[in-house]
This record gives sequence, structure tokens and C-alpha cells, in this order.
Amino acid sequence: MGSTVAEAAPPGRAHAASVECRNVEKWFGELNVLADVAFSIPAGAFVSVLGPSGCGKTTLMRAIGGLTGVDDGEILVGGRRIDGPPPEAAIVFQQFGLMPWKTIYDNVAFGLTVRGGGSKREIEERVRHYIDLVHLSGFEHSYPYQVSGGMQQRAGLARALAVEPQLLLMDEPFASVDAMTREILHDELLGIWERDRRTVVFITHSIDEAIVLSDEIFVMSRSPATVVAQIPVDIPRPRRERTVRGLPQFAELRERCWDLLDRGGAEEAARS
Ligand SMILES: Nc1ncnc2c1ncn2[C@@H]1O[C@H](COP(=O)(O)OP(=O)(O)OP(=O)(O)O)[C@@H](O)[C@H]1O
Ligand SMILES: [Mg+2]
Repeated sequence: MGSTVAEAAPPGRAHAASVECRNVEKWFGELNVLADVAFSIPAGAFVSVLGPSGCGKTTLMRAIGGLTGVDDGEILVGGRRIDGPPPEAAIVFQQFGLMPWKTIYDNVAFGLTVRGGGSKREIEERVRHYIDLVHLSGFEHSYPYQVSGGMQQRAGLARALAVEPQLLLMDEPFASVDAMTREILHDELLGIWERDRRTVVFITHSIDEAIVLSDEIFVMSRSPATVVAQIPVDIPRPRRERTVRGLPQFAELRERCWDLLDRGGAEEAARS
């Protein structure tokens, strides 16, 4: 399937990488998880991926992140075929992925230190900047167990942002926080993304979340999964969740996504 380029996305940004999947196929033994998955995401676009539970969203994200290989087809990040984790990408997982024995500061600094992200002073400046950006200043010396789930999720986001990735891969990052915290995190992510415009691939079960955040929504079918629709989200930015929810386009897009998920036989698709 060809791509629909999101108008809000400024293509070709130096600090954002495009993503292209060409006829990607993935099997786990006898199980065909991904079948002929094809799309392209322009540099700087925010794309959400919706689909029924177990259809292969995480597998697709892991494949783009180079954490798992594919059996056929190819994936290009920044125009280059990947063969392992692309240096442009950083991943935010659902379960925060923080190291419990490290402080928030050290968790955020971890990726930078591993990647050799500059002098000690430069690393410190960058870590403080991103901790501040996600509103965690004052908690640098706390351990993950000493802060709330929402704060841990912010720390996970800061850690991914601190390496200043050209591609941010997020797998249901807000699924385990309460609704109010999620709304706050959405607005924070919108603010951060609207400023920097890195490419984001955001996996979610929530149609509402996908509409609020994205330039474009990819809907996947039940497995063997393929992308059955690419829906542009024509809502101007800057956006804030509460405003977006009140727009007539929001209700229309919501219906359209539900129809597509239903048509794919996805009765069990999680509701927002
Ligand atoms: N390492 C693996 N080995 C074998 N099967 C796997 C492996 N990883 C995933 N699967 C299977 O592949 C299918 C897709 O899994 P995946 O986690 O990608 O789905 P998902 O869309 O992310 O699901 P959810 O919405 O529940 O997170 C499932 O049937 C799963 O059991
Ligand atoms: Mg998953």
C-alpha cells in the first residue's frame, strides 16, 4: 500500500528519519504474524499503529527497531536498509524499562553514556535538560520505586529523548497509567513533539490516543497482519487533548477507525 504523506510533517528534516517497510513478512514457526506489510513514513511524521490484540504490532515495532529480523521484505530507516538496531532509533516500552538499581538521573543518562554522547559536562547538561522537559526536576536522585507510574513513564521518555533520536518507537507507552495522568502525558508529548518533530511510530490500543497525537493512523488487520488503512488526521496543531476531543473531526475519525477495526473482525479490539 502506498503512503499518504501527512501534511503537518515537514519531510526531510535533518534530525528526523523516514521509515519504509517494503513487503515485510514475519513468521514465528508456523505462525504468520506479518504478511506483506508495506508503508512509508516521512521524516518528522507522527504515526500511530492501531490493531487488534495479538495482531503483530509489537512485532512490527521490534522489527523497525532492529530487535527482531524479518523473513521477507525489507525495512529502511533514513533511507538505509536495516540489519540490526538502527542508530537513529530509540524505544519507549510499555513497562518503562527503567533499571531499578539506578536513580532517575542515571537511568536517563544511561543511553547517552552507552552511546558515548559527549563529555561528562555535555552529558550532564543534556540529561538535566530532558529531565526538566518531562517535569522531573527535583527527582534526579530518586529511584524508580520511589516515584509514581506516570513519573516512571516520563523518565522512560526522557531517557529515549536524551539520545536525541531521529526516530522514536513507542509501544503502548501510556497503557499502564491512569486516565488523568495519560491525558497530561499526551499533552506533554504533543508539546515536545511539536517543538522537535522527530519521527514517531506510536503503537496503541486506543483510538482516541491515536487521533489526539497523530498525523496519520495505520490500522492493522488481525494476523497475519497487514496495514489495511492509512488515515490522515486533519486536525491542526498545536493540539491539546481536551480541545481535540471537542472537535467534530474527532468523532468522525473515531467512527472510521472503529469501522475499520470491526471490518477486520476485531471484536476484541480494546476500547479506549
Ligand atoms: N518471540 C515470539 N515467539 C513466538 N511467537 C511470538 C513471539 N513474539 C510474538 N509472538 C506471537 O506473535 C503474535 C503477535 O504478537 P505481538 O506481540 O506482536 O502482538 P501485538 O499486536 O503487539 O499484541 P498486543 O496488542 O496484545 O500487545 C502473537 O500471536 C504472539 O503470540
Ligand atoms: Mg504489543
